[in-house]
Amino acid sequence: MAVKEIKHNIYSVGAIDWDRRLFDALIPLPDGTSYNSYLIKGSEKTALIDTVDPTMGDVLINHLNQLGVESVDYVVAHHAEQDHSGALPQVLGKYPRAKVIATSRCKEMLVDLLLIPEERVVTVNDRETLSLGDRILEFIHTPWVHWPETMVTHLREEKILFPCDFFGSHLATTDLYVTDEGQVYEAAKRYYAEIMMPFRTNIEKNLKKIEGYAIDIIAPSHGPVYDRPEFILEAYHSWVFDEPRNIVVLPYISMHGSTGEMVGYFVEALTKRGVTVKQFDLTVTDIGKLAIALVDAATVVLGTPTVLAGPHPNVVYATFLANALRPKLKFVSIIGSYGWGGKAVEQLAAMIPNLKVELLDPVLSKGFPKEADFMALDRLAETIAQKHKEHSFL
Ligand code: FEO
Repeated sequence: MAVKEIKHNIYSVGAIDWDRRLFDALIPLPDGTSYNSYLIKGSEKTALIDTVDPTMGDVLINHLNQLGVESVDYVVAHHAEQDHSGALPQVLGKYPRAKVIATSRCKEMLVDLLLIPEERVVTVNDRETLSLGDRILEFIHTPWVHWPETMVTHLREEKILFPCDFFGSHLATTDLYVTDEGQVYEAAKRYYAEIMMPFRTNIEKNLKKIEGYAIDIIAPSHGPVYDRPEFILEAYHSWVFDEPRNIVVLPYISMHGSTGEMVGYFVEALTKRGVTVKQFDLTVTDIGKLAIALVDAATVVLGTPTVLAGPHPNVVYATFLANALRPKLKFVSIIGSYGWGGKAVEQLAAMIPNLKVELLDPVLSKGFPKEADFMALDRLAETIAQKHKEHSFL
């Protein structure tokens, strides 16, 4: 990313990672990502907002050199995770008088995780301010977005919110601002689903906490900057506060065709009853797409054959993720097949303690599904449609 000016003496100086395809050795990044860092020059002091992933520290340093930055007084560390604080040692080495500004919890983590010397870190309380001369930074503690130490910064004069991961999107682009809201909506929803949704109750509190601030621009530390902040604020509001929708998410595996036959029949049975279905073949599914679908769904139906006396390992993985992501689901059921026995239903049902759901009667077929199995699938589809109607989802 080239250096870009947001306002007079406020610059975007971070790095684009076009080729990164996995985060935390877990999360797919189909569109790469960026590690955004921002330089704010005040009349008396200069602050750097977040750094970048340690693999791209040289890009950040090069940008600061291009701007002729000879001294940095403060480096605001919103979050101790490597992708934002990993280049801190390099930045602190270049600017030996710079102090890191962080929450007390973040200070501990910077010392533990990145071996930052304690004396380089100044802690700030919730809503504490810092003057750069003609500009004031206010630090707002926003714990669990998505680690315990997180905070955001509000720049009063220009009404810019720097929220780090909050409102971010894994999207590599040379555009400073959002140019395609549809594309960014998808990337930001994926980000929310994978990173923020497990902490939805904390996100809810933190959304309310920033409501009172005047915000013209939101400059996150991943993805493009929002010059129409209501776009992402309204999206987050909907993902966090809205009731789930009339959607069944159906992740499944079929080994020899029996479960596949049931899935095909069941999707039609739901569709005929006015229920929207999102079907995911777990042999090829991007788990990010599955996570996105979980944000709004009212119901999940897991489709699994029986293998080694239990559910297929890919279905186990999807179930583990759904439980960890804590979506707003209301109902869960299981359909599938077995050859001679097994405990697929019991094992899957035991894997979802985080989901406050009603477990609807499963449908298991012995071998290829027969008339009675199809009738049972019709009954399950009818039950789901009725439940959705009772909750006004349908
Ligand atoms: Fe973008 Fe939680 O780091």
